[in-house]
Amino acid sequence: MNRIANVKPSLKNDGAVSTSNTGDFRAEVIAGLSAAQKTLPCKYFYDERGAQLFEAICRTPEYYVTRTEMALLQSHAAEIATLAGSSAQLIEFGSGVPTKACVLLDSMKRPAAYVPIDICSASLFAELHNLAVRYPGLAVAPVRADFTRSLRLPEIFGARRRVGFFPGSTIGNFTPEDARAFLRRVAGVLGQEGMLVIGVDMKKNPRILDAAYSDAGGATAAFNLNLLKRINRELKATFDLDAFTHYAHYNEALGRVEMHLYSLAFQSVRVDGHLFSFTPGESIHTENSHKYAPDEFQALAREAGFQPTKLWMDEAKLFSLHCLNVGSIH
Ligand code: AVI
Repeated sequence: MNRIANVKPSLKNDGAVSTSNTGDFRAEVIAGLSAAQKTLPCKYFYDERGAQLFEAICRTPEYYVTRTEMALLQSHAAEIATLAGSSAQLIEFGSGVPTKACVLLDSMKRPAAYVPIDICSASLFAELHNLAVRYPGLAVAPVRADFTRSLRLPEIFGARRRVGFFPGSTIGNFTPEDARAFLRRVAGVLGQEGMLVIGVDMKKNPRILDAAYSDAGGATAAFNLNLLKRINRELKATFDLDAFTHYAHYNEALGRVEMHLYSLAFQSVRVDGHLFSFTPGESIHTENSHKYAPDEFQALAREAGFQPTKLWMDEAKLFSLHCLNVGSIH
């Protein structure tokens, strides 16, 4: 039986709470712009236009992340499927387009359910009908939620092991402390039998990293600036997009690529009745993308209650794919 019919009721009835609302957005933007080093939370990049621009980044020649991870998934999907076992439920954190999940679902034995979790309902529903056609018998149960906060998952009748999937090195967008705390919560949600497949970008030559976050075609710059456009639209703000410029660089000491928007002039910007002043060269720090050596990431996963079971890397050692089992919390 095709169980796409479960999609809407599951969204309404699974008890998951959407925690993305304008109140949170306004409060976080105003708090970020009020700090000595102005910041904006990177999770707000992904409005409809931001999600499109991120897809464009993934297709740039400089951003090796997506294609390298995809190749690793394709090479090792059969092994991952064996580890997952039959009738497993695949729970994807921050789903967007489920292209990578399909690589796993194609190999998994009688997958019982696909549970994409996303802050944005447009991303959640975009491709789900196609999934129901492609995998008859798969329960598709989307959850609209901010997975960086606490999270409840629907109980899926007949489903066995919970297999978490967190691709794309999105874990790198957390600080290491927040990544540890997040993984701890994921371990709790996946349960004792749980397993997590997670893509993690690796430390490497800074020139490769700098290029990946400042592509020559300008997709990353447009993605970064789109955050100001979103704030203008949703919070009636007055950012002049021509008066800010994108800049990204690898901070070797902190092991992270930092993205900033630099002010090109003395200027003031109004956001929902608050006035923020900028000097030329002052930045808004919009994103951190932490990079991990494989053993560094495995140590962090252990501290969060996971037991590393498998690790794959591409030949050029750009990207790593980890399989972790829920173990005991240290
Ligand atoms: C989604 N996240 C893992 C991307 C990254 O690489 O940190 C977002 C991104 N920012 C600039 N390019 C891509």
